[in-house]
This record gives sequence, structure tokens and C-alpha cells, in this order.
Amino acid sequence: MKTISLLNLKGGVAKSFTSLNMAYELWRRGNRVLLWDNDKQGNLSKAFARYEAEQTAPVARILSGDWQNSEELIQATDYEGIDIITANLSLFGAAWNLVKEGGADMTERYRRFLKAGINNQTGDSICESYDYCIIDNPPDIGINVVNALVVTDEVIVPVKIDENALEGLDIVAGQIEDAKALNPSLELKGVLITIYQNTDGEAAGLEWLRQEWDNAESKHYRQYKVLGRIRYSAKVVENSFVKKPIYEYSPCCGAAQDYKHFVTSYTGIGR
Ligand SMILES: Nc1ncnc2c1ncn2[C@@H]1O[C@H](COP(=O)(O)OP(=O)(O)OP(=O)(O)O)[C@@H](O)[C@H]1O
Ligand SMILES: [Mg+2]
Repeated sequence: MKTISLLNLKGGVAKSFTSLNMAYELWRRGNRVLLWDNDKQGNLSKAFARYEAEQTAPVARILSGDWQNSEELIQATDYEGIDIITANLSLFGAAWNLVKEGGADMTERYRRFLKAGINNQTGDSICESYDYCIIDNPPDIGINVVNALVVTDEVIVPVKIDENALEGLDIVAGQIEDAKALNPSLELKGVLITIYQNTDGEAAGLEWLRQEWDNAESKHYRQYKVLGRIRYSAKVVENSFVKKPIYEYSPCCGAAQDYKHFVTSYTGIGR
């Protein structure tokens, strides 16, 4: 299983939307995908109509270590082959308590789950049960995000081009460097330009960002490779009420085509 984290300290840059559509595109290519909602807002859980406000969310139980049977923490979605670990506001309390209590294993809770969890039907470990795990992170770096980085192979940073696009990117890259002490196989793959409007302004902005990244003195900035570009689509805005993968709602729109091409170029597997 390859684990990919979507991470940026900025909100509204399409971390959740990219998680949803990457999962869908991987699934369309025949992969089994585990989605991990690591954001107390629960937007990914809502997108798959699996959000529950009242109960302690599975992700909070994993962070607290309060679980015996991994099966009950993973839910099927309407797409056979995409499963989800859901989140809600209880993740906030779980993270707070974990930091308050401290403890040597506080960064190992997600790893413990992935190592110890067993699929009851097949007897396989969780890692054997899926081809990909996609983690949708919140716009901050708390203990739940550190736990996510400990189990992540590759980080993709979605970036929306505006005058503040660079804000916080050096912190993200610094955190990834630090987390390598806990997980040596962690790799920052690069940025995915999202919600891109093909105006002269944004094209110039993208060019400027590329130069900034190439010329920056900080080694952190220089790690940013542009992996792809997803266009803004009015269809996405309409779809936010329907909540479907964009390829199902409007397969020809720019965003659907761009996610398709991005996943093909990222994995090397076309569809
Ligand atoms: N290609 C696109 N075209 C138009 N709108 C888009 C596109 N991608 C994402 N959006 C919209 O942008 C908004 C923010 O997206 P999303 O919730 O995925 O961001 P986020 O980074 O996960 O935010 P947060 O940090 O709050 O979790 C959503 O309303 C989403 O529908
Ligand atoms: Mg989100």
C-alpha cells in the first residue's frame, strides 16, 4: 500500500477535493483505496455521505488508541473498493488529550493501527488490503498530522495561485524534514496547482512561483516541483451540492479531465 498525504497550512486550496478525486481516479483504474479523513471538519466524510456528528469518530479513536477491532473503524462507501476512516469534531478533543498526556508513543498511533489492524474477512493486514491510502489533512500541523506523516510515503501540497500562495510552504517543508526522523521513507513529491484560472494574471503568477522556487535561498522552497495543474471549473461549484467525484458529475469539464491526467502522470497508469 502506498500512502499519500494532501497537506498545506492554507485552507481552501482543494486538499479535500483532491483527496476525493484522486481516490476516485485510482479506483477507476482498478485500485483498492482507503481514504483517511484527518480533518476535524470532516469534509471528506461528508463528501462520501459518511459523516456522523454525534459519535466519537474512528480517526479520533485511532489517535486515542481506543480501539480493539480495526474493522469497525473502516467503513465502506458507495464505491465498492473505496473505504473510509471518518472524522468529526471529536478529533479535536482526541488530539488535545494526547498532547496533554504526552507519552513516548504519541506520534505512533496511526502506525500502530496500520500495523496491527486486520481485515476480518480476508485475514489480511490493512496494508495488504489496499493499494493506496489517501490522507486528507486539515490546514494546520497538529499531533494528528504528525501521526499522518509517520505513515505517509508521499506528500502532495495543493496550492492555489494568489499573492499569498507561498505562505507557510517553508513550514510545511520543514515539518516534513523533521518527520523524516520518525519516518525515513517520507518524501515531499511537490505541489499540485489547484483551482487554476487560465488568466494572464494566474499564468504570470505560476511563472513567478516557479522562479521563486528555483531561485529561493531556502532549501525548503527549492524542493517544490510542480506536479500538475487542475483548472477551475464552474461544474465543481454546481457539484458541491451533489457531492460526487467530478468525473461522474461532469466528465468533460476541465477539472475532471485534469484530475484524470494528473493521476495518470503521477502513477504512470492511464485510463
Ligand atoms: N477545480 C476547482 N474548480 C472550482 N472550485 C473548486 C475546484 N477545486 C476545489 N474547488 C472548491 O474550492 C473549495 C475548497 O476546496 P476544499 O474544501 O477541497 O479545500 P481544502 O483545502 O480541503 O479546505 P480546508 O483547508 O478548509 O479543508 C470547495 O468549495 C471546492 O468545491
Ligand atoms: Mg479540507
